[in-house]
Amino acid sequence: MSIHGDIKRVTTHTLQSMKDHGEKISMLTAYDFSMAKIFDDAGIDVLLVGDSASNVMAGHETTLPITLDQMIYHAQSVIRACDRCLVIVDLPFGSYQGNSKEALNSSIRIMKESGAHGIKLEGGEEVCESIKRIVGAGVPVMGHLGLTPQSIYKFGTYSVRAKQEEEAEILMHNAKLLEDAGCFSIVLEKIPAALGGEVAAALKIPIIGIGAGMHVDGQVLVMHDMLGITKNFSPRFLRRYLNLYDEITTATKSYIKDIKDKDFPNEKEQY
Ligand code: KIV
Repeated sequence: MSIHGDIKRVTTHTLQSMKDHGEKISMLTAYDFSMAKIFDDAGIDVLLVGDSASNVMAGHETTLPITLDQMIYHAQSVIRACDRCLVIVDLPFGSYQGNSKEALNSSIRIMKESGAHGIKLEGGEEVCESIKRIVGAGVPVMGHLGLTPQSIYKFGTYSVRAKQEEEAEILMHNAKLLEDAGCFSIVLEKIPAALGGEVAAALKIPIIGIGAGMHVDGQVLVMHDMLGITKNFSPRFLRRYLNLYDEITTATKSYIKDIKDKDFPNEKEQY
């Protein structure tokens, strides 16, 4: 059901209206112009310029190495492609944890230099002061709780979070703090579906899940996973809509063969 399909530009208010009307929110990551154009034309509600660019675009093992300048470069490319969707950009590791002034400065750089519509940052109580300051400057903020990849060395694994009651209570507490601090939405990553539903029911703002089950207000996937470009990543929550790794491999092999066989270019494919 899409009662907001005809909307010309998705805003944070549109997302709130979607939640209020029971319409699920669709979100994907994007890092470059060409893919963002396809997603926007297809009608995606939100594109996230995720710091997962560090993994899927740059080949790093974690999200930690990507810089603010690199995030801005990706964000500029995505923004140029988007006429309808809301574009949110991750604050990368090291660009906001220092203090709230640094968090504000990094957010302003992203907004000013890329033209993005808002930022996302990871964490609970410890980032609330920063969120208030950024929101106070007029910048929409999306929170991120549960599995927070920028803290991977603190947690040690990428396993499901908040399975135990104590951690679940902390997550719920932090979600409420983020809402009170002014977040317009929160991403919940890799937590039990029941907890995802409880958070979505307890908060007014839209809750977007990645591995947080069916009861939240929307879903996000990393585009490389959704399109089957990443091969060795198969968490339970992932649904692949294509198997592009194999399709691109087949196409590349055909291309190589055609060149070697002197079949490409043919008479019609030259000047
Ligand atoms: O960086 C990213 O891709 C993300 C999503 C997993 C939500 O934060």
